[in-house]
Parts: sequence; C-alpha cells; structure tokens
Amino acid sequence: MRKTEEFLRKIAFNIRRDRELDLNRRGFIASTLSLMGVFFVSSTPLIALSGNREEEAHESEVFIANTDDIKIGESFGFSYPDENDPALVIRLSENEYRAYNIKCTHLMCPVFWEPEEGHLECPCHHGFFNVDDGSVIAGPPQRALPSIDLKIKNNKIYAVGISQAQH
Ligand code: FES
Repeated sequence: MRKTEEFLRKIAFNIRRDRELDLNRRGFIASTLSLMGVFFVSSTPLIALSGNREEEAHESEVFIANTDDIKIGESFGFSYPDENDPALVIRLSENEYRAYNIKCTHLMCPVFWEPEEGHLECPCHHGFFNVDDGSVIAGPPQRALPSIDLKIKNNKIYAVGISQAQH
C-alpha cells in the first residue's frame, strides 16, 4: 500500500502543491456553476410543464348547460372529461346540482336518474346509487360513481374536475 502511494507521488510530477488549493477553489466554483446550470436546464421543462398544468386545469373546465336548461328535479346528459365519458348533471333544487360519470361501477352499463325515487339506477343488474354522493345504495356495484365537480358562473354550469369517492 505504501509502495503504491510513493509510486503515485512520483508519477504526479507536474502537480504543484502550492497551486493545489487554488485549483480546488476553482474546481469547486466551476463544479458549483456546472451543477447550477444542469439544475436550471433540467428544471426548465418542469417549470414549463407546471405552467401547462394550470392551462390544462383551465382547459378542463367544460361548459355543460345554462341553468335555465335544467328544471328542478331533472337531469341533463353531457360528456366529461372527454366524449367517451358519459355523465349526468342533476338539478336537486334552485342552487343545488350533482353530476356523475354514469358508467356503472359494476359492468359499465349507463346509469340513469330516477326522479320518482330520487336515486340513480343501473338497469342491467339493478344497481342503485345515492344522488347526494354517488355512493352505492344497493345491488352488485362495489364502488361509488365518480363525482364531477361543478362550477356555476353567470347562470352557466361548468364541469371542472372529477373525483372518485372512497365508498
Ligand atoms: S352493470 Fe350496473 S349493476 Fe351491473
């Protein structure tokens, strides 16, 4: 081991000990600047992406209908977040609405609003869902209907997001 160290010292003949500290400082500064550059370059797409996410969130705001288009107790069909996701908004009172993706969580049959009973119903195997939160009341479904978040602005109803309840 000692012989190896001596050999290495001999072959390192052009390293000036008096400049070693200076080189280390320069090396440290250069490394730091390089790392900052790498960090900046690698984070730029993330910064751009976060900007896009805000735009996407804004873009995912989808107009459904005017409030006047849906009478109290009635439902209105739309698609959200895209055309392959059928959904219903139900007007429960003057200012109270609920919206759900209507693919039954059992085997994906379309669920419909049953105003007489006040619940959502799947005709395929008689699954029933609570209109207040989309939870299962009865039947084979094991999961609640995904709930669509709504925003009402200037008498217009918008879908602004979707969430899956845990029951
Ligand atoms: S598909 Fe809805 S209960 Fe079976």
